[in-house]
Amino acid sequence: MPNPFSYGGIVAGKQFCNRAKEIDDLVRAGLNGEKLFIHGERRIGKTSLLRKVMVKFSKKKVISVLINVLKCVDAADFVNECASGFAEAEGSTGILKRVKKLFDGLSPAVTIRDDGRPSLTIERSAGKLSSDQLENVLKASWKIADSNRDKRLLVIFDEFQQVRLLGDDRIERLIRSVVQERSDIAWFFCGSRTHLIKQMFLDSNSPLYRSAGHYPIEAISDEHWIPFISGKFRSAGKDISNTVIKRLLDITSGHPYYTQLLCSSLWGICEPESKISDDMLEQALNILLERENSTYHILWDSLPEQSKRMIRAIALENPLKSPYSGEILRSYGFTSPSSAGRAIEYLISHDLITKSRDGGYIIIDRFLGMWCRKIFAS
Ligand SMILES: Nc1ncnc2c1ncn2[C@@H]1O[C@H](COP(=O)(O)OP(=O)(O)OP(=O)(O)O)[C@@H](O)[C@H]1O
Ligand SMILES: [Mg+2]
Repeated sequence: MPNPFSYGGIVAGKQFCNRAKEIDDLVRAGLNGEKLFIHGERRIGKTSLLRKVMVKFSKKKVISVLINVLKCVDAADFVNECASGFAEAEGSTGILKRVKKLFDGLSPAVTIRDDGRPSLTIERSAGKLSSDQLENVLKASWKIADSNRDKRLLVIFDEFQQVRLLGDDRIERLIRSVVQERSDIAWFFCGSRTHLIKQMFLDSNSPLYRSAGHYPIEAISDEHWIPFISGKFRSAGKDISNTVIKRLLDITSGHPYYTQLLCSSLWGICEPESKISDDMLEQALNILLERENSTYHILWDSLPEQSKRMIRAIALENPLKSPYSGEILRSYGFTSPSSAGRAIEYLISHDLITKSRDGGYIIIDRFLGMWCRKIFAS
């Protein structure tokens, strides 16, 4: 039987665990024309969840458009991704006529991808996009909504924080004006680099400041993981107790990617018709840490001295609740609170640490945290 645990890509069907509440909330928000910024740690399951929401929408009277900003390196790429997304939402019949109507005066080149989906490229003059071009592409959303009055339109940007890195501050301003004007269109802005996406929506200097409600995506709780995990092991006659599963979930904190990864490793070392022990879980974990050893070493070597101290403090305190207390500064060798502060800023901006819900700092990559604890303990 093939390994039933899947990590790395988008998961759906039997590989998708629960998220019933999030799906309900997001479907309702979409139907209500809400504007939401959806944020969560790397690999927490944002894209898989959004896809699931889109599948639900396809069964209702909702047109959903998914625009992935990750691949964009400049504003022109962004415009092309938006144009392709909106054109796809318009459907493929009579596409050229409709594309012309949708993007007034822009004359995009249309190519049809191998999977039948359209891809649009809008010409830029001397590498520069005009504000009109940007605005017209975003306003295609209005036209789709106007020509489908019996349906709701939901526009989803995935990896939206990437917009900040495109070097064109017109984009956020234009998005704000296009989004604000229509209460009948729902917009979801989804992102994984939490510190960047929060800056975009919570910093009073940002054009999108308070332009959308916020919806955090958290880990999946034990009560949903336990039947999911035990069902998969048991279907191959591999006996796993709830105690071992709970221990596994303690290690991963229920984070979907790390949970699937550790389950997959555990599955690999367990013969069918056998019972899974704590020792096997330990072994599965060691296999993963061993596999990542050289990557973690390279990462460690690349860190500035103070950030190494801070990672060490966070790994050992796990979570680190009071980084500026005299005791922490003394124990981990910081000369001042400001040097500790700079180390925290560095680690946050490099997506290595984050603040957990209870306010303590944690290392985002759960296995890096364990690797550090092993190194420091030896
Ligand atoms: N609902 C779920 N049930 C089970 N596993 C999940 C679920 N959601 C995510 N995963 C696991 O997490 C991995 C990452 O999922 P996904 O790509 O959807 O996350 P993401 O937050 O969009 O990641 P990124 O930050 O890289 O964009 C999947 O490959 C899968 O292993
Ligand atoms: Mg994603």
